[in-house]
Amino acid sequence: MNDQPQAELDWRDGTIPISRRFDDPYFSLDNGLEETRYVFLAGNDLPARFGGDFVIGELGFGTGLNFLTTWKAWQDAGSPGSLTFVTFEAFPMAVADMATSLAAFPELAEWSDQLISALSAGGPLRFGQIELQIVVGDVRDCLPQTDLLADAWYLDGFSPAKNPEMWGPDLMEQVAVHTKTGGTLATYTAAGHVRRALSEVGFDVVRLSGYGRKRHMTKAVKR
Ligand SMILES: C[S@@+](CC[C@H](N)C(=O)[O-])C[C@H]1O[C@@H](n2cnc3c(N)ncnc32)[C@H](O)[C@@H]1O
Repeated sequence: MNDQPQAELDWRDGTIPISRRFDDPYFSLDNGLEETRYVFLAGNDLPARFGGDFVIGELGFGTGLNFLTTWKAWQDAGSPGSLTFVTFEAFPMAVADMATSLAAFPELAEWSDQLISALSAGGPLRFGQIELQIVVGDVRDCLPQTDLLADAWYLDGFSPAKNPEMWGPDLMEQVAVHTKTGGTLATYTAAGHVRRALSEVGFDVVRLSGYGRKRHMTKAVKR
């Protein structure tokens, strides 16, 4: 894509990618697809809120699992309007590694195949009424330079302990700046410093039961 270093991976059970740089899996070891539905879709009241020109922002594109799960949900719900999905990624995965990761989710094959073909062809990343924008680079540098204004955010960095760059107060402030009033965010973590930072930059923050073995997750609404 550009000069950004590519993701280097180890594989658990041959299917779950683990980042060597961050020593953390890209998605839940239990059931990545169901966790995405629970945390990011339900956490943002999706697909119920889809409609108009809906905009989602994501921190960390990774394998594309969240994007594909969202696209399928948007389509299955017969959502009107359009969907723009803007995602930030500092260490893009090789397309072949993405394909290996996504092969674990046969339910998404129809959508994964289209994404992999489009990425292999170098774009465009437009699928009917859905547009995917992958902003390559460190999100701390890239987000302040965009005019993105999201209806919903997926905060999906690696764990705050291993990937603090994705959870700092300055970045949370940028997320707030790039969220519509009444817009929402969801994340699998309930780390106290993340929730406090979100609250300080203008979100009403709620802690919910987490997915699977995780006790809690977070959702928030921009005041
Ligand atoms: C948990 S994974 C995201 C999983 C992804 N949402 C999916 O559906 O597969 C976290 C991602 O954040 C990226 N990342 C880590 N630090 C970053 C930074 N400073 N800026 C942008 N992306 C970063 C990693 O390379 C990784 O792809």
